[in-house]
Amino acid sequence: MAVMTGVKTVTILGCTGSIGESTVDLLAANQDRFRVLALVGNRNGEKLAAQARLLNAAWAVCADADQYSALKAALAGTSTKVACGPEAVLEAARLGADWTMAAITGVAGLAPTLAAAERGGTIALANKEALVSAGDVMLRAVAAAGATLLPVDSEHNAIFQAMAGNPQTSVERITLTASGGPFRTWTREAMKGVAPEAALRHPVWRMGAKITIDSATLFNKGLEVIEAARLFGLSSERIDVLIHPQSIVHGLVHFSDGSVVAQLGAPDMRIPIAHTLAWPERLATHAPRLDLAAAGTLEFMAPDDLQFPALRLARQALLAGGGAPTILNAANEIAVESFLRRRIGFLDIASVVEEVLGRLGPRVADTLGQVTELDAEARRCADAEMARAA
Ligand SMILES: NC(=O)c1ccc[n+]([C@@H]2O[C@H](COP(=O)([O-])OP(=O)(O)OC[C@H]3O[C@@H](n4cnc5c(N)ncnc54)[C@H](OP(=O)(O)O)[C@@H]3O)[C@@H](O)[C@H]2O)c1
Repeated sequence: MAVMTGVKTVTILGCTGSIGESTVDLLAANQDRFRVLALVGNRNGEKLAAQARLLNAAWAVCADADQYSALKAALAGTSTKVACGPEAVLEAARLGADWTMAAITGVAGLAPTLAAAERGGTIALANKEALVSAGDVMLRAVAAAGATLLPVDSEHNAIFQAMAGNPQTSVERITLTASGGPFRTWTREAMKGVAPEAALRHPVWRMGAKITIDSATLFNKGLEVIEAARLFGLSSERIDVLIHPQSIVHGLVHFSDGSVVAQLGAPDMRIPIAHTLAWPERLATHAPRLDLAAAGTLEFMAPDDLQFPALRLARQALLAGGGAPTILNAANEIAVESFLRRRIGFLDIASVVEEVLGRLGPRVADTLGQVTELDAEARRCADAEMARAA
């Protein structure tokens, strides 16, 4: 087995969230191999301070400027420097770490992830919304800086692992699996009255609120189809989605000779994160080991587009290209937030996204400025749509 050599510098964007915490856990267990340049959070200054102490981080940064005094006080007597506000987040991203975890939720993570990518190094990408919304901009920045983009999403990480060592031309298609979320077997009628509390109870994964709701609507898988298209250069019809409630087989690559290579593992995000931390080597983890005999039956079924329209909408946006994925992502972010605030119902999330996609029509999103403007316009349009429907 390969042994990692040298000490890597790392930065975590979104350290206080679910992915951030799993990353901190791995770093805490391997302090001799990694040196933390910056930990970046938003509002949870208390958790950030505890993480900075644990990992002896050079910088602790909150996007929320109001956290400054409390964070400074919590880190008094340590060598960790403190900064707050959006500009401080960008500066932290630009410190030039060898490895940066991009785990801020939503388009809020776009500018910091881009800032990190522009410095080169490895970007471990959890923040799929940034790549969906600004695919060309991100991929251009990565290429220009000679950065390495590694997927953290368990499905994309699985595909990346399964593809390794094979020519791109031998890949016929890929399959992303989906747990199906808490309402997998529900009728649309039953889903009408779903409350945020029920949608936030994911049967397998423990994650932040936005991605948990996206998993319940299947928008998460829709965003992942677009993410896979960008990462692996595949068209929509070569990216299959399969419901797999046990979340053990994460992704499959179908090769031109008829072979299918899959990556399996316990549903624990420390596994794909560790893969990106050590790549091309391996890092030992304490994540649960897979016991297939105990798992017993693994089920697979096709998703139902009528029950969950999100997948259809995401494929539509991918096919339309241009600014359509930017619009889809922005409208979904606003709709999810509104559902969590009980402003709209569960099924309204997809309706709002479909309406906004239709209203805004074909757009261009080639530059960061165009993406930012279109994102804001789609958010306004979604708000107006929800106000009209209320
Ligand atoms: N969780 C998973 O298992 C999983 C799996 C695959 C992909 N992902 C993707 O990874 C990303 C993070 O997901 P998550 O579940 O970890 O989310 P989460 O638990 O909600 O955490 C989000 C993180 O982003 C920070 N944040 C929010 N707004 C920010 C801003 N404006 N500037 C700086 N930091 C900000 C939060 O800070 P505070 O908490 O301090 O406010 C927190 O650290 C998402 O894009 C998600 O789709 C997650």
